[in-house]
Amino acid sequence: MPETWFPRYTSQSRRYQPDGRWRKPVKGWELTGPQGVPPDAVERVPVAGRRPSHIELRFLSLGESILFPMITVRAHAKINLTLEVLGRRDDGYHDIASILQTVSLHDTLTFEESDAVTLDCDRPALATPDNLVLRAAHLLRDTTGVSSGATIGLRKEIPVAAGLGGGSSDAAATLLALNRLWGTELTREELLPLAAQIGSDVPFFLYGGTGRVFGRGERVQPLPSADLEWAVILTPQIDLPKKTSAMFSEIGSMSYTNGGLTRKLAARLSSKGDTPPQFLFNAFDDVAKEAVPELSSYWNAFHDLGAREIHLCGAGPSLYAPVSTKHHATAIQLLLQHRHGWEAHLVSMVDRESTSPR
Ligand code: C5P
Repeated sequence: MPETWFPRYTSQSRRYQPDGRWRKPVKGWELTGPQGVPPDAVERVPVAGRRPSHIELRFLSLGESILFPMITVRAHAKINLTLEVLGRRDDGYHDIASILQTVSLHDTLTFEESDAVTLDCDRPALATPDNLVLRAAHLLRDTTGVSSGATIGLRKEIPVAAGLGGGSSDAAATLLALNRLWGTELTREELLPLAAQIGSDVPFFLYGGTGRVFGRGERVQPLPSADLEWAVILTPQIDLPKKTSAMFSEIGSMSYTNGGLTRKLAARLSSKGDTPPQFLFNAFDDVAKEAVPELSSYWNAFHDLGAREIHLCGAGPSLYAPVSTKHHATAIQLLLQHRHGWEAHLVSMVDRESTSPR
């Protein structure tokens, strides 16, 4: 049951009646909340001229209206503090051990109940049926059997196919938000297999913060927050078709490790809570430098500006470097952006509690 009252569009349901009986299916708006549905019919007032982040509902019996926010959530990007590849599996995937960390760079999604599932994106080329947001919405609908739809808005800030988990984070945010909007009330544990069907990184984003992942990435162990504060992310303009599978196919058994570094950092985070730089590792760092020679000019420029620990985000091509002060991080980000004309972001770490209310 939701903790606060919020508007819900119903096309099929159960409207509460003062006498306790359920009325026949009716289309319309109702308020759902801790005590169920209140015995008052409401209707939506058109939002023309209003902030689109709000829905105005009129209480029919009183003639009064009230503004409600649409469900608005942030979907954060991630960096990999470690990423070890343990070996190739029979199903074509690789077993990995990785510690992921959500960062302040985020996309923004809005959800409003309607008849059909539709996606409106500020980058229209991304609003295709294979967008992970739509896949998540349809999967939740098919799994739970709800007949509701949703108008979903997606504002992209996270660079696409860049190793930052943007699409996966959007998908996890969609599962969590629609589960609330549609009142399907699956637990996070029940959402996990759906998330794993969408992509290997999606389950992590159901938790956010700092987390260790196993298997092909779909098994998650939440960890205490890493104590890093600032990082600069540099996203090279390098287009790698089918980047993740291409990078995994480049990695050979020479680059396989046993997960020990990830285990050690997880233990360190659980005991002392710090993140010594020598624990940071990404098995794709060396592979990518060889497979994608253009990457070295980005790496070198980052290094020349004083960044010492530079690693790939996921399978790249984005690079990140932790920086101890905001002052220094800002300088690096601005120089990368303005001197080189590259896409660079200054980010802070985002812990589990600070990811959007779920
Ligand atoms: O799960 P996801 O769709 O993100 O994976 C994309 C591709 O990356 C997979 O088809 C597979 O080729 C490769 N991959 C892998 N091992 C993993 C994750 C992904 O080989 N742990």
